[in-house]
Amino acid sequence: MATEQRPFHLVVFGASGFTGQFVTEEVAREQVDPERSSRLPWAVAGRSREKLQRVLEKAALKLGRPTLSSEVGIIICDIANPASLDEMAKQATVVLNCVGPFLELMQLKYHEKAADKGVYIIGSSGFDSIPADLGVIYTRNKMNGTLTAVESFLTIHSGPEGLSIHDGTWKSAIYGFGDQSNLRKLRNVSNLKPVPLIGPKLKRRWPISYCRELKGYSIPFMGSDVSVVRRTQRYLYENLEESPVQYAAYVTVGGITSVIKLMFAGLFFLFFVRFGIGRQLLIKFPWFFSFGYFSKQGPTQKQIDAASFTLTFFGQGYSQGTGTDKNKPNIKICTQVKGPEAGYVATPIAMVQAAMTLLSDASHLPKAGGVFTPGAAFSKTKLIDRLNKHGIEFSVISSSEV
Ligand SMILES: NC(=O)c1ccc[n+]([C@@H]2O[C@H](COP(=O)([O-])OP(=O)(O)OC[C@H]3O[C@@H](n4cnc5c(N)ncnc54)[C@H](OP(=O)(O)O)[C@@H]3O)[C@@H](O)[C@H]2O)c1
Repeated sequence: MATEQRPFHLVVFGASGFTGQFVTEEVAREQVDPERSSRLPWAVAGRSREKLQRVLEKAALKLGRPTLSSEVGIIICDIANPASLDEMAKQATVVLNCVGPFLELMQLKYHEKAADKGVYIIGSSGFDSIPADLGVIYTRNKMNGTLTAVESFLTIHSGPEGLSIHDGTWKSAIYGFGDQSNLRKLRNVSNLKPVPLIGPKLKRRWPISYCRELKGYSIPFMGSDVSVVRRTQRYLYENLEESPVQYAAYVTVGGITSVIKLMFAGLFFLFFVRFGIGRQLLIKFPWFFSFGYFSKQGPTQKQIDAASFTLTFFGQGYSQGTGTDKNKPNIKICTQVKGPEAGYVATPIAMVQAAMTLLSDASHLPKAGGVFTPGAAFSKTKLIDRLNKHGIEFSVISSSEV
C-alpha cells in the first residue's frame, strides 16, 4: 500500500487467474457494501486486456451487475516488464497481488526500501496465513494471562463431490519446496537473534499423531503458516515488547486410510521436487501426483459451495507472570477460526478485508512502511472484527485452569 492518494483505491493484479477471478468478485461485492460511506474506485490488472474484460463480464453476470465492466478500470501490466509494474503501482493505493507469492526474500531485500518510501507490503494475506496468524493473536488476546504456546489443527470439510485445488497453488508449492536450500541460505544470511522461549519448549508431534480432542489423525501442516506466525511473533516481541508465543501447525486427515494416502503423496512430492525433471513432471501431472487433490481445472462451483474450514487452536500459558521453563503452564484455552471454502472464498474475503483495513484503519498500522506479515501489520487494527462480519469467524471454545 502507498500512503498518498492514487486514482484507484484497489487494483486486483492477476485478476485473470483462477484466484484473481474470485478476488475480483469479492471487491465488486465490497464496492456496494451497504456500510460503505465513500466511493471505491478500483481496477483489474494483468497482461491480457481480453482476459481481463472476460473476468469483468463473468463477475457482472454472476453478481447481477450489468454495468460493472464500465465501473472498473483496466491496467495492462506484465511482470517481465518492470516499467509496466511501476505504472500500475503509481495508479493504486492498494495492489491485491494474485500472481504469486513473495515472502521471506521480499522482507530481506525490500523492507528498508519500502519503509523509506512509506509503502506497506504484506504477504500471505489469503487463507495462508491470515486465519492462523491472526488466530494466534486472537487466542493471546482472549487468554486471561500470558499465552506461551499454541498448536493449531486445520480441518477441511468437503461436500459429496469432494475437494479440489487449482494447480496455481500446486505450482507455488513446487517452486517453494524446490527453493528450500535457498531459503535456508537466506535464513542463515539474515542471522537473526533467537527469540526467547517463554515457558517449556513446545514439543513437535510425530509426523503422524492422534489428536484426542479432535478424534482424528493429524500430520504437520506444510503451508506457510508456521513461518508466517513465527515472523509475526518475532516482530511483536522486537518492536512492541510483547511476549512471544511458540507455535506449531497440523492438519487433521481423518482415518488411517487417508493418512496412508497422504503419506504416499507427500513422499512422492518430496522426492520429485528435488530434481528439475521431477518438478517438470509434478507441474505437468498435478492430478496424478497429488492423488486427485490438485487439478488444472480447479474446483467446481459445487465443490466450492460445499467446502469449509475450521482452524482449532489449543493454547497454554500462565495465569500470572511468564513462569520459567521448569514451571508447568497452569491455564489452557481453545479457540477457533471457521470459514467458507479456504482457497477461493475465504482467501478473497481475507485479502479484500485486509485491503479495506489498510485504507480505513491506517493509524493502527506499524508507523513506517515496510514488508510485514499480516499479524505484524494488523495486530492493532480491527481486521478480526471485519473478518467476523464477512464470514470468517473467530471464537473462544473453552478456557480453563489446568
Ligand atoms: N494464500 C492463499 O491462501 C492462496 C489461495 C489461493 C491461491 N493462492 C496463490 O495465488 C497464486 C495464483 O494461483 P492461481 O491458482 O490463481 O493461478 P493461475 O490461475 O495460474 O493465475 C496466475 C495469474 O498470474 C498471472 N500471470 C502469470 N504470469 C504473469 C506475468 N508475467 N505478468 C502478469 N501476470 C502474470 C496470470 O495471468 P494470465 O491469465 O495472463 O496468464 C494469472 O492471472 C498462487 O501463487 C497461489 O499459491 C494463495
